[in-house]
Amino acid sequence: MMKVLFATSEAHPLAKTGGLADVSGSLPVALQDIGVDVRVLMPGYPSALAKAENLSRVFRIDLPTHGETALLRGTFPGTGVPVYLIDHAGYYGRDGLYQDQSAQDWPDNALRFGLLSQFAAWLAGSKSPLGFKADVLHCNDWQTGLAPAFLNFEKPPRPPSVFTIHNIAYQGIFPAAVVEKLGLPKESFSVDGMEYYGNLSFLKAGLVYADRITTVSPSYAKEIQTEEFGMGFQGLLSARKNVLSGILNGIDTQEWNPATDPHLYAPYSADNIAGKSANKLSLQGELGLQYNAKTPLLGMVSRMTEQKGSDVVIEAVPKLLELGVQLVVLGSGDQKLETTWRKLANANPGRIAVVIGYNEGLAHRIEAGADIFLMPSRFEPCGLNQMYSLRYGTPPVVNNVGGLADTVTHASQENLNQGEATGFVINFLDKYSLIETVSRALILYRHKLAWQKLLKNGMTRDFGWKKSAHQYLELYQDMCEG
Ligand code: ADP
Ligand code: GLC
Repeated sequence: MMKVLFATSEAHPLAKTGGLADVSGSLPVALQDIGVDVRVLMPGYPSALAKAENLSRVFRIDLPTHGETALLRGTFPGTGVPVYLIDHAGYYGRDGLYQDQSAQDWPDNALRFGLLSQFAAWLAGSKSPLGFKADVLHCNDWQTGLAPAFLNFEKPPRPPSVFTIHNIAYQGIFPAAVVEKLGLPKESFSVDGMEYYGNLSFLKAGLVYADRITTVSPSYAKEIQTEEFGMGFQGLLSARKNVLSGILNGIDTQEWNPATDPHLYAPYSADNIAGKSANKLSLQGELGLQYNAKTPLLGMVSRMTEQKGSDVVIEAVPKLLELGVQLVVLGSGDQKLETTWRKLANANPGRIAVVIGYNEGLAHRIEAGADIFLMPSRFEPCGLNQMYSLRYGTPPVVNNVGGLADTVTHASQENLNQGEATGFVINFLDKYSLIETVSRALILYRHKLAWQKLLKNGMTRDFGWKKSAHQYLELYQDMCEG
């Protein structure tokens, strides 16, 4: 039986800021289903300590830089997937996974995620105090980037490691001084190692020292080898392209199922779509929008950052309103974007509803209640929201990048005729092309039959994890064979 230690900084439902948590919560279940013994390792944030089940202490240790640390073992609620939580109240016992309330990174993030990385390498390596001997260490994003480095400097035998890039924009960059503090050998701090323009980059450590690199869609795997999307790492990634591959994320089709979703006002499915309009009317009521089944409702749920194109939507708002739509926006992040959205909502009561914050139930109700989902990301490693919206019969308007390009089929006449179309793809993102694409979507929206066909195409696509879980298993097997 293949044994995998899966190290991550967030996993739904224990702790979540974005898609990494969705993946870390559902990929292990899919791997377990195909016979992999996978165990998750993550920080013991207060929410994780509160929600994990069957918690018990495995050991306690006093570490040189980090001090007293304990390892707990438990299971994910609902799925029973084993999880190890690092119990270190000084590091993880606060609200906010990476940042404080005012969106400032915690000043000790290098230590917080240095400890996570160190534990990942230790628990997967030959000196592991666990009875579990991992065949593969699977790391995710910069927060676990030092783990392949720690492993690399251990004496063999040691298991191979794979590093998955969920988002190359987050690079874990810290002053050089932390290298020795974290217990890494001095020689690792070089151009060929984890040094990045005089600083330490956790991301670079993962990219340099992991045996394999994956990212979360085939298109993004190609894009990050280019200057436009590589964010400084295109050279390194091109040089390692033989060990780099893209495996598309799946979605949790139980959690995101409009027929059984407890967050919705009314259930519906591809065969019985009537309930969708009840969700729209109730959403309009919940958010104080004008109550009207005919007015097209555009929805957006995202972190408010450059990446997600929230600013492009803001620029397009006046024209979008002229097209006669309503708009609902849920998200948080960049304070300037938050403020602008709040102002737009105040200036357009009944037509624009903005909810700043993180609200899981509302995210589900927007996916269900909106007619069209907006996701004009500048780059998107995979993106899950567009897949949720497809499954909820809410065709997405997306930019032609990364996982968006790999999961949405444009409603061209040809694709419509062939029954393949699922959404609307913008080729060169700016406010004009966004407005034009939404206008085209609205034309189709008014053709009831064609629109229903489009919804059904998306709702019946298979976005489950099965195929991707098999691809990960093949990768693990390949790694173990050398
Ligand atoms: P990313 O990981 O880049 O943020 P994804 O589309 O992969 O983008 O995943 C985002 C996840 O976070 C989805 O599950 C989405 O529903 C959720 N999400 C994002 N912002 C919010 C919010 N403000 N409230 C609730 N859920 C949110
Ligand atoms: C990142 C990416 C997103 C991806 C998610 C899970 O946050 O921005 O595109 O879906 O990770 O892999």
